[in-house]
Amino acid sequence: MKNFLDTLKEVREKQLDGLGLPALPKEFILKSVSDSNINSHIVTYFDPKSPITEQYRRLREHIKTMVKKDRLKTIAVTSSIANEGKSLTSLNLAVALTKDVDCKRVLIVDCDLRRGTIASSLGMDSKVGLSDYLHLNADVENIIYKTKIKKLSIIPKGKITDDPADLLASLKMKALLENVKEKFDIIILDTAPAISVSDAGIVCSQADGTIMVVRTGKTQRGIVKHATEILTQSKVNLLGYVLTCIEYPIPEYIYKYV
Ligand SMILES: Nc1ncnc2c1ncn2[C@@H]1O[C@H](COP(=O)(O)OP(=O)(O)O)[C@@H](O)[C@H]1O
Ligand SMILES: [Mg+2]
Repeated sequence: MKNFLDTLKEVREKQLDGLGLPALPKEFILKSVSDSNINSHIVTYFDPKSPITEQYRRLREHIKTMVKKDRLKTIAVTSSIANEGKSLTSLNLAVALTKDVDCKRVLIVDCDLRRGTIASSLGMDSKVGLSDYLHLNADVENIIYKTKIKKLSIIPKGKITDDPADLLASLKMKALLENVKEKFDIIILDTAPAISVSDAGIVCSQADGTIMVVRTGKTQRGIVKHATEILTQSKVNLLGYVLTCIEYPIPEYIYKYV
């Protein structure tokens, strides 16, 4: 099966071909994904010079400004429904943050205890994670894992549990967030969708700020509005929206020089 970057390269080449332009230089793609089990959609890791990475860098800079001004430390990432790109936004943003020279330690906490994908996207199989910590008296250090990406650590979701919302609403969760705030410069909380379950509202209301992901061409306006209302009712500090799945109207190769 073709990987994402190969497909992307093929698309770029076809676009350039149509314009009578030469094929892409090989060095354009900086890291090979063939020998890696990290999700190839983490573009900030694999393709640091791409326009997509540039957008995540911009998002990072916006967040940094807010972090400095309002002293934010925990940022939740949510969306109205599933498959809008919450987890990939969390991962790409976190990697972009690791590239910031002033940022020494970045943590992603997988708060989607139902369908979390953070550990698997980084090619890690996790045994003990957030749900186990909240259920039992595990040591915090035992659920924080270093990743292959420099400066990035994660707390995986842990074992599937019957009561994710209750666990996330517990005092232990609050205490955990206070604890990791002392250990890391910035903490990204990846969440479940806001509409279907109460988990996201519970997590986002504990975060210092929340960004909401909206998938263009898929998520309807009314649904985004409804999710926003749910979050507002939960007294969430909504910082702004991130649009995913936007297609570039002109080839990326040319876009670089515009
Ligand atoms: N920015 C994006 N651009 C294009 N496709 C995306 C983007 N973000 C996510 N996707 C696609 O959507 C799928 C779901 O992404 P994911 O981050 O797991 O969503 P969520 O966490 O909201 O359920 C991915 O497998 C990917 O194919
Ligand atoms: Mg997800």
